[in-house]
Amino acid sequence: MSEAPKTKGGLEGAVVADITTSLVDGENGRLVYAGYEIEDLAAHASYEEVVFLLFKTRLPNKKELEEIRSEIASHAVVPGRILEMMKRLPPKANPMAVLRTVVSALAHYDHDSENLTDKTKAYHTALRLIGQITTVTAAWDRIRKGLEPVAPRVDLTLSENFVYMLTGKQPDKTVADAFNVYMVLLAEHGMNASTFAARVTTATGSDMYSAVVSAIGTLKGPSHGGANAEAMHMFMEIDNPENVEKWFTQEIKSGNRRIMGIGHRIYKALDPRAEVLKQHAVKMCQATGNTRWLDIAVKLADLARADDYFIERKLYPNVDYYSAILLYTLDLDIDMFTPLFAMSRIAGWAANIIDQMGGRLIRPDANYVGPLGLKYNAPQ
Ligand code: ACO
Repeated sequence: MSEAPKTKGGLEGAVVADITTSLVDGENGRLVYAGYEIEDLAAHASYEEVVFLLFKTRLPNKKELEEIRSEIASHAVVPGRILEMMKRLPPKANPMAVLRTVVSALAHYDHDSENLTDKTKAYHTALRLIGQITTVTAAWDRIRKGLEPVAPRVDLTLSENFVYMLTGKQPDKTVADAFNVYMVLLAEHGMNASTFAARVTTATGSDMYSAVVSAIGTLKGPSHGGANAEAMHMFMEIDNPENVEKWFTQEIKSGNRRIMGIGHRIYKALDPRAEVLKQHAVKMCQATGNTRWLDIAVKLADLARADDYFIERKLYPNVDYYSAILLYTLDLDIDMFTPLFAMSRIAGWAANIIDQMGGRLIRPDANYVGPLGLKYNAPQ
């Protein structure tokens, strides 16, 4: 048998599904959710409108929007036993690991958790999970700081509710709008690694909770959703805009490290979400009077943009680069950045899970490059 050439791995270029939720046009730096350009949605839509759009492939009318908002808000309550369980977890636990644990546990409190076939039921499970993940994310930040969780309010939007449950205060419009923009931009993104993980789990006939747990574990990695926190740590390590050039030469040009928040498997032009997030980060940083981290980020991105290595490989800031600055300026702890990403992306995951339900098993092949013809010898 002749040996097949070794693969580069990564399933680059492999197409695994026909989808209607989003188009990621990597060559032109364009992102479309179900027909709508991302810039249009970021400027005008609420997260709840986007959730509806991803599930129904059309925007809601006023009545439908209020229905979906209130269903998400009213199901955002988390059972008391779950909050008790969270209080027993180590306060230093990784918040993404906590989210992964809690989503798994939430299944035990949902009568429909083992539904594997009914897409209408699955839609309502998804709305419930969207609300509950928001509550769990905010509650964990309080619990680990020794504070009591704050119950969600049924009258608020998801972004308002998140800040309310995190701080105990209803946010002003600027802050709520900034969170909403983040939530809209991160909600869905083609066949990204965590969505793929969710689809693989669903395609075995497993349930939505299991698929979301797979997705959370996948998003956690620094090559995917974990990059937002890593980017912020990197800006802090650089510490001052004056240090950017030296750091770039020592850490990046030496080939030791990657710039976190730069590069993308699909985008070979600027990630359109990065541009919108940059604009919002600029606005928020100027409003708070602290532009130090933004200045570092902009200077580093400018250096990379003018560098042959980055130009040849078409490496540009991705969604995690400026979102790190925005979320930090919104006073979120750095290790909460990736849970916030999950809080938004749950919409895209769930829409893809429902689409995948009843679909064909996803089972790629592997290229065996090991030995053949060995004979068993008992241990001596
Ligand atoms: N800094 C420096 N060099 C980089 C970077 C970077 N951030 N990203 C890629 N490269 C280089 C690689 O070293 C490689 O160079 P080579 O051809 O000389 O070997 C080349 O660009 C291609 O890189 P791959 O790792 O093959 O690209 P891949 O598509 O597999 O990886 C990834 C994409 C993981 C996003 C990568 O760009 C990266 O590690 N970026 C930093 C982490 C990050 O920001 N992740 C978030 C992605 S967006 C998201 O998931 C939300």
